[in-house]
Amino acid sequence: MLKSMNCGALRKDHVGRTVTLAGWVHRRRDHGGLIFFDLRDRSGLVQVVFNADVSEPAHTLAETVRPEFVVQIKGVVAARPEGLINPNLATGEIEVEAHELVILNASKTPPFPINEDVPVRDEIRLKYRYLDLRRERMQRNMILRHQVISFMREFLNRQDFLEIETPILLKSTPEGARDYVVPSRIHPGKFYALPQSPQQMKQLLMVAGYERYYQIARCFRDEDLRADRQPEFTQLDLEMSFVDSEDVRALIEALLIELVGRISDMRIQEQPFPVLSYHEAMERFGSDRPDLRYGMELVDLTEAVRHSKFGVFANTAAAGGQIKAICVPGAASFSRKQIDQLTEGVKERGAKGLVWLKAEHDGLRSSISKFLSEEEKDAIIELTEANEGDLILAVADSKEVVAESLGWLRTHLASMLGLADPNTLAFCWVVDFPLLEWDDEEQRWVAVHHPFTSAKASDWPLLESDPGKALANAYDVVCNGMEIGGGSIRIHDAKHQSLLFSALGISEEEAREQFGHLLEAFRYGAPPHGGIALGLDRLVAILAREDSIREVIAFPKTASATDLMLNSPSPISARQLAELHLSIVE
Ligand code: AMO
Repeated sequence: MLKSMNCGALRKDHVGRTVTLAGWVHRRRDHGGLIFFDLRDRSGLVQVVFNADVSEPAHTLAETVRPEFVVQIKGVVAARPEGLINPNLATGEIEVEAHELVILNASKTPPFPINEDVPVRDEIRLKYRYLDLRRERMQRNMILRHQVISFMREFLNRQDFLEIETPILLKSTPEGARDYVVPSRIHPGKFYALPQSPQQMKQLLMVAGYERYYQIARCFRDEDLRADRQPEFTQLDLEMSFVDSEDVRALIEALLIELVGRISDMRIQEQPFPVLSYHEAMERFGSDRPDLRYGMELVDLTEAVRHSKFGVFANTAAAGGQIKAICVPGAASFSRKQIDQLTEGVKERGAKGLVWLKAEHDGLRSSISKFLSEEEKDAIIELTEANEGDLILAVADSKEVVAESLGWLRTHLASMLGLADPNTLAFCWVVDFPLLEWDDEEQRWVAVHHPFTSAKASDWPLLESDPGKALANAYDVVCNGMEIGGGSIRIHDAKHQSLLFSALGISEEEAREQFGHLLEAFRYGAPPHGGIALGLDRLVAILAREDSIREVIAFPKTASATDLMLNSPSPISARQLAELHLSIVE
């Protein structure tokens, strides 16, 4: 190798040793007769000193070196004098006295500093991702990601799982997002689809008798992007035979707890993980992925204000809606303008308005004070457990709008007020999701999870009588307000599968065309099975304390699904188009 040691590994024990180092010049300070480099490789930094009295040629060459040059240095490890020890650096007790310097490669001045954690525009970072990845923060994230994946493999191998790869050139899978498709050259007019997940393949592996499968699986979904969504992302995908939902959950819970213990200094808020029904999560937090690190739960005021003189409350209650509130600790001092901004926020989520009530020393002050009776005010204070100085914010609307708007308000205010402890991991399970939801646009029932998810055993008859009431044998794992995984027990027999397809309005013919392979497979002794997929990027982002999954993906795409470094997507040549039997219609 071009080096005998890693920079970051040098310690006092090495004093007196001759070493050859190679890496990047992180920083350079010129003090005339002495030139200092901080030399960086993946392992860390070490200080190198060029002394004109020790080696004139090396010192002269060192004058020409700039940050990010790649260099090789031969020198002797020396103890730093007492006052010059740097306790913030692992190698801070020593330095390397350079005898020889070779410039292995020069570098242009980077478009942003590599040696400081300064804010840089995302577009620039993504265009020069290979430089961005040199920065300490990104290197830390990439190492963490590697550790997470390595641990998962080790854990599952220990539990007798097999890692099996499944195709990337696949067929359209009905996960709900749009597919990325790949035209076939050999079969004119035909397309592969990239997998939205390996869902069907892993079920077929269960039919094939493999019993315990996992894969670090790349998934592709053409959907609107957000901080927690990328068009291609990675799942820890797994499937097990002869299990019920508790078995899958117990396995994943054990995996997550051991993972955190091994690679993170963060604290798990509660073990075993709390289990909430979908209904409970929506009622208490207005979300099916609640952040349990803080309170501010939604409080139902409907009964307390059902007969209120405030028309909006009385009318909403009479129409079967809800009046709910959250109590924001210490926020009675919020200005009119701040409350107006919150009102705008809930309006964007469908609410018609936001009622505010401030708990002051002499009672409730509110825009609707004069409409509320003393009993109503007392009941509101009692139900919300408001203390002096708190702000109560209420929405009256349909159950859905109340959940959506107050759920948003709760998380928005928590981040504004810094209520969530950044060092805590609040995991929970959300279970008992509805199996189906009504799609207004398509005027039909659609699967909430996917069409292979089983209903709860006792809920199958509901599919014919009251499909919206049937609950799924499905579970999501949530952490700090983010859905980090989801799975279910699957349907494994043709009878239940046809029952579900007919509830979804999928004809037998369509079913055969789209899922014939699966339906046929289920006729050859399919075992009962179930599984889950963890969103690896999301999990790593949480462990890395990053807000966006982009920060834990080596080469991510922008919010408009482009790669700024490769300039992709990009046009292809007329010849390629012709080979693929495609023409572009503007
Ligand atoms: P689901 O669609 O819930 O389930 O996906 C599982 C987990 O993958 C993550 N995820 C994403 N992460 C980043 N970008 C995206 N665009 C994105 N979409 C999803 C989430 C989510 O919880 N086949 C089923 C799993 C199963 O039933 O076993 C599936 O894919 O963290």
